[in-house]
Amino acid sequence: MPHGSLVTFEGGEAAGKSTQVRLLADRIKAAGHLVTVIREPGGTPLGEKLRELIKHAPESKGMEPMTELFLLCASRAELVAKVVRPAIDQGTVVIMDRFFDSTLAYQGGGRGLDTGMLRQLIDWSVGSTRPQLTVWLRVSPEEARRRMESRNGGQTVPADHFEAESAGFFSRVDAVYAGLAATESERFIELDGSSPMEDVASRIWAVVSARLRL
Ligand code: TMP
Repeated sequence: MPHGSLVTFEGGEAAGKSTQVRLLADRIKAAGHLVTVIREPGGTPLGEKLRELIKHAPESKGMEPMTELFLLCASRAELVAKVVRPAIDQGTVVIMDRFFDSTLAYQGGGRGLDTGMLRQLIDWSVGSTRPQLTVWLRVSPEEARRRMESRNGGQTVPADHFEAESAGFFSRVDAVYAGLAATESERFIELDGSSPMEDVASRIWAVVSARLRL
Protein backbone atom coordinates (compact mmCIF):
# COMPACT_ATOMS: atom_id res chain seq x y z
CA MET A 1 0.00 0.00 0.00
CA PRO A 2 1.51 3.36 -0.97
CA HIS A 3 1.84 6.06 1.65
CA GLY A 4 -1.45 7.93 2.02
CA SER A 5 -2.08 11.35 0.63
CA LEU A 6 -4.23 14.40 1.14
CA VAL A 7 -6.28 16.25 -1.48
CA THR A 8 -8.32 19.29 -0.46
CA PHE A 9 -11.15 21.15 -2.16
CA GLU A 10 -11.70 24.88 -1.86
CA GLY A 11 -14.10 27.47 -3.21
CA GLY A 12 -16.75 29.99 -2.32
CA GLU A 13 -20.35 29.08 -1.51
CA ALA A 14 -22.21 26.68 -3.85
CA ALA A 15 -19.13 25.94 -5.93
CA GLY A 16 -20.11 22.27 -6.20
CA LYS A 17 -17.34 20.99 -3.91
CA SER A 18 -19.37 18.39 -2.05
CA THR A 19 -20.61 16.77 -5.27
CA GLN A 20 -17.14 16.73 -6.78
CA VAL A 21 -15.60 15.34 -3.58
CA ARG A 22 -18.07 12.45 -3.74
CA LEU A 23 -17.43 11.77 -7.43
CA LEU A 24 -13.66 11.82 -6.91
CA ALA A 25 -13.92 9.47 -3.94
CA ASP A 26 -15.91 7.01 -6.11
CA ARG A 27 -13.27 7.09 -8.83
CA ILE A 28 -10.39 6.60 -6.40
CA LYS A 29 -12.21 3.69 -4.76
CA ALA A 30 -12.89 2.15 -8.17
CA ALA A 31 -9.16 2.39 -8.90
CA GLY A 32 -8.60 0.17 -5.85
CA HIS A 33 -7.46 2.64 -3.20
CA LEU A 34 -8.69 3.33 0.32
CA VAL A 35 -10.48 6.69 0.56
CA THR A 36 -11.72 8.81 3.44
CA VAL A 37 -13.90 11.87 2.88
CA ILE A 38 -13.95 14.60 5.50
CA ARG A 39 -15.53 18.02 5.75
CA GLU A 40 -14.31 21.06 7.61
CA PRO A 41 -15.37 22.38 9.99
CA GLY A 42 -16.56 19.02 11.30
CA GLY A 43 -15.47 15.44 10.71
CA THR A 44 -15.35 14.37 14.38
CA PRO A 45 -18.19 14.26 16.93
CA LEU A 46 -16.81 17.39 18.62
CA GLY A 47 -16.05 19.04 15.27
CA GLU A 48 -19.62 18.50 14.05
CA LYS A 49 -20.91 20.28 17.18
CA LEU A 50 -18.49 23.13 16.52
CA ARG A 51 -19.67 23.22 12.87
CA GLU A 52 -23.24 23.69 14.03
CA LEU A 53 -22.12 26.48 16.37
CA ILE A 54 -20.00 28.20 13.72
CA LYS A 55 -22.55 28.05 10.89
CA HIS A 56 -26.01 28.05 12.42
CA ALA A 57 -26.36 28.79 16.15
CA PRO A 58 -28.26 32.04 16.83
CA GLU A 59 -25.77 32.74 19.65
CA SER A 60 -22.86 32.81 17.18
CA LYS A 61 -24.44 35.24 14.72
CA GLY A 62 -22.15 38.26 14.56
CA MET A 63 -19.49 36.65 16.76
CA GLU A 64 -16.06 38.24 16.85
CA PRO A 65 -13.79 37.17 13.97
CA MET A 66 -11.24 35.90 16.53
CA THR A 67 -13.93 33.79 18.24
CA GLU A 68 -14.87 32.28 14.89
CA LEU A 69 -11.20 31.63 14.14
CA PHE A 70 -10.58 29.80 17.43
CA LEU A 71 -13.68 27.63 16.98
CA LEU A 72 -12.48 26.69 13.48
CA CYS A 73 -8.98 25.93 14.77
CA ALA A 74 -10.39 23.82 17.61
CA SER A 75 -12.36 21.72 15.12
CA ARG A 76 -9.26 21.44 12.91
CA ALA A 77 -6.84 20.39 15.66
CA GLU A 78 -9.24 17.64 16.74
CA LEU A 79 -9.78 16.48 13.16
CA VAL A 80 -6.13 16.38 12.12
CA ALA A 81 -4.99 14.49 15.23
CA LYS A 82 -7.88 12.03 15.46
CA VAL A 83 -8.79 11.38 11.81
CA VAL A 84 -6.62 12.90 9.08
CA ARG A 85 -3.15 11.98 10.33
CA PRO A 86 -4.04 8.37 11.27
CA ALA A 87 -5.80 7.84 7.90
CA ILE A 88 -2.82 9.12 5.92
CA ASP A 89 -0.47 6.98 7.99
CA GLN A 90 -2.57 3.92 7.15
CA GLY A 91 -2.15 4.55 3.42
CA THR A 92 -5.55 6.13 2.79
CA VAL A 93 -6.23 8.88 0.27
CA VAL A 94 -7.93 11.57 2.36
CA ILE A 95 -10.17 14.03 0.53
CA MET A 96 -11.14 17.13 2.48
CA ASP A 97 -14.05 19.41 1.65
CA ARG A 98 -12.18 22.55 2.82
CA PHE A 99 -9.04 22.83 4.94
CA PHE A 100 -6.77 25.65 6.08
CA ASP A 101 -6.91 27.61 2.80
CA SER A 102 -10.52 28.37 3.75
CA THR A 103 -9.18 30.13 6.84
CA LEU A 104 -6.84 32.26 4.74
CA ALA A 105 -9.70 33.08 2.35
CA TYR A 106 -12.64 33.58 4.76
CA GLN A 107 -11.02 34.77 7.98
CA GLY A 108 -8.12 36.51 6.19
CA GLY A 109 -9.80 37.87 3.05
CA GLY A 110 -13.41 37.94 4.21
CA ARG A 111 -12.97 39.06 7.82
CA GLY A 112 -9.70 40.92 7.37
CA LEU A 113 -7.65 39.06 10.00
CA ASP A 114 -3.87 39.23 9.74
CA THR A 115 -2.45 36.59 7.40
CA GLY A 116 0.78 36.11 9.38
CA MET A 117 -1.21 35.38 12.55
CA LEU A 118 -3.51 33.01 10.62
CA ARG A 119 -0.54 31.10 9.20
CA GLN A 120 0.90 30.67 12.71
CA LEU A 121 -2.39 29.34 14.07
CA ILE A 122 -2.70 27.03 11.06
CA ASP A 123 0.82 25.71 11.75
CA TRP A 124 -0.14 24.93 15.33
CA SER A 125 -3.41 23.26 14.29
CA VAL A 126 -2.13 21.06 11.44
CA GLY A 127 1.63 20.62 12.03
CA SER A 128 3.14 18.93 9.00
CA THR A 129 -0.18 17.65 7.62
CA ARG A 130 -0.37 19.48 4.28
CA PRO A 131 -2.24 18.67 1.07
CA GLN A 132 -0.30 17.41 -1.95
CA LEU A 133 -2.96 18.98 -4.10
CA THR A 134 -5.74 21.52 -3.64
CA VAL A 135 -8.55 21.91 -6.17
CA TRP A 136 -10.10 25.37 -6.22
CA LEU A 137 -13.52 25.20 -7.86
CA ARG A 138 -14.21 28.67 -9.13
CA VAL A 139 -17.71 29.87 -10.02
CA SER A 140 -18.76 33.43 -10.77
CA PRO A 141 -20.58 35.35 -8.01
CA GLU A 142 -23.73 35.39 -10.18
CA GLU A 143 -23.63 31.62 -10.66
CA ALA A 144 -22.99 31.07 -6.93
CA ARG A 145 -25.98 33.27 -6.02
CA ARG A 146 -28.21 31.42 -8.51
CA ARG A 147 -27.17 28.03 -7.11
CA MET A 148 -27.67 29.13 -3.50
CA GLU A 149 -31.18 30.30 -4.29
CA SER A 150 -32.14 27.11 -6.10
CA ARG A 151 -30.58 25.01 -3.30
CA ASN A 152 -32.63 26.95 -0.76
CA GLY A 153 -35.88 26.22 -2.58
CA GLY A 154 -35.92 29.47 -4.57
CA GLN A 155 -35.64 31.47 -1.33
CA THR A 156 -33.17 34.28 -0.86
CA VAL A 157 -32.99 33.41 2.85
CA PRO A 158 -29.35 32.45 3.58
CA ALA A 159 -28.78 28.84 4.73
CA ASP A 160 -26.14 29.85 7.32
CA HIS A 161 -24.14 32.77 8.72
CA PHE A 162 -21.62 32.73 5.86
CA GLU A 163 -24.18 32.74 3.04
CA ALA A 164 -25.54 35.93 4.58
CA GLU A 165 -22.24 37.74 3.94
CA SER A 166 -21.99 40.53 1.36
CA ALA A 167 -20.81 40.37 -2.24
CA GLY A 168 -17.71 42.29 -1.12
CA PHE A 169 -16.90 39.58 1.45
CA PHE A 170 -17.01 36.89 -1.26
CA SER A 171 -14.95 38.87 -3.73
CA ARG A 172 -12.25 39.20 -1.01
CA VAL A 173 -12.50 35.42 -0.43
CA ASP A 174 -12.00 34.83 -4.16
CA ALA A 175 -9.09 37.26 -4.29
CA VAL A 176 -7.23 35.22 -1.64
CA TYR A 177 -7.86 32.00 -3.57
CA ALA A 178 -6.62 33.68 -6.76
CA GLY A 179 -3.48 34.77 -4.90
CA LEU A 180 -2.84 31.18 -3.73
CA ALA A 181 -3.33 29.89 -7.29
CA ALA A 182 -0.67 32.36 -8.42
CA THR A 183 1.87 31.87 -5.61
CA GLU A 184 1.44 28.13 -4.96
CA SER A 185 0.64 27.04 -8.50
CA GLU A 186 2.17 23.56 -8.03
CA ARG A 187 -0.29 22.69 -5.28
CA PHE A 188 -3.26 25.03 -5.71
CA ILE A 189 -5.09 24.29 -8.98
CA GLU A 190 -7.94 26.44 -10.28
CA LEU A 191 -10.74 24.70 -12.18
CA ASP A 192 -13.89 26.19 -13.68
CA GLY A 193 -16.71 24.92 -11.47
CA SER A 194 -19.48 26.20 -13.72
CA SER A 195 -18.92 23.60 -16.47
CA PRO A 196 -21.24 20.56 -16.54
CA MET A 197 -20.73 18.35 -13.47
CA GLU A 198 -19.29 15.36 -15.39
CA ASP A 199 -16.79 17.56 -17.26
CA VAL A 200 -15.57 19.07 -14.01
CA ALA A 201 -15.29 15.57 -12.50
CA SER A 202 -13.21 14.33 -15.44
CA ARG A 203 -10.85 17.27 -15.24
CA ILE A 204 -10.42 16.75 -11.49
CA TRP A 205 -9.72 13.06 -11.99
CA ALA A 206 -7.11 13.84 -14.65
CA VAL A 207 -5.26 16.21 -12.34
CA VAL A 208 -5.56 14.10 -9.17
CA SER A 209 -4.71 10.74 -10.74
CA ALA A 210 -1.64 12.20 -12.42
CA ARG A 211 -0.41 13.99 -9.31
CA LEU A 212 -1.00 11.12 -6.88
CA ARG A 213 -0.04 8.48 -9.47
CA LEU A 214 -3.26 6.53 -8.84
P1 TMP B 1 -19.54 24.33 3.76
O1 TMP B 1 -18.99 23.05 4.31
O2 TMP B 1 -20.96 24.20 3.37
O3 TMP B 1 -18.67 24.93 2.71
O4 TMP B 1 -19.60 25.34 5.00
C1 TMP B 1 -18.49 25.68 5.72
C2 TMP B 1 -18.47 27.18 5.93
O5 TMP B 1 -17.45 27.52 6.85
C3 TMP B 1 -18.20 27.94 4.63
O6 TMP B 1 -19.09 29.02 4.53
C4 TMP B 1 -16.80 28.45 4.82
C5 TMP B 1 -16.60 28.50 6.30
N1 TMP B 1 -15.22 28.26 6.72
C6 TMP B 1 -14.45 29.32 7.14
O7 TMP B 1 -14.92 30.45 7.19
N2 TMP B 1 -13.16 29.09 7.52
C7 TMP B 1 -12.61 27.84 7.52
O8 TMP B 1 -11.43 27.67 7.85
C8 TMP B 1 -13.44 26.73 7.09
C9 TMP B 1 -12.87 25.35 7.07
C10 TMP B 1 -14.74 27.00 6.71
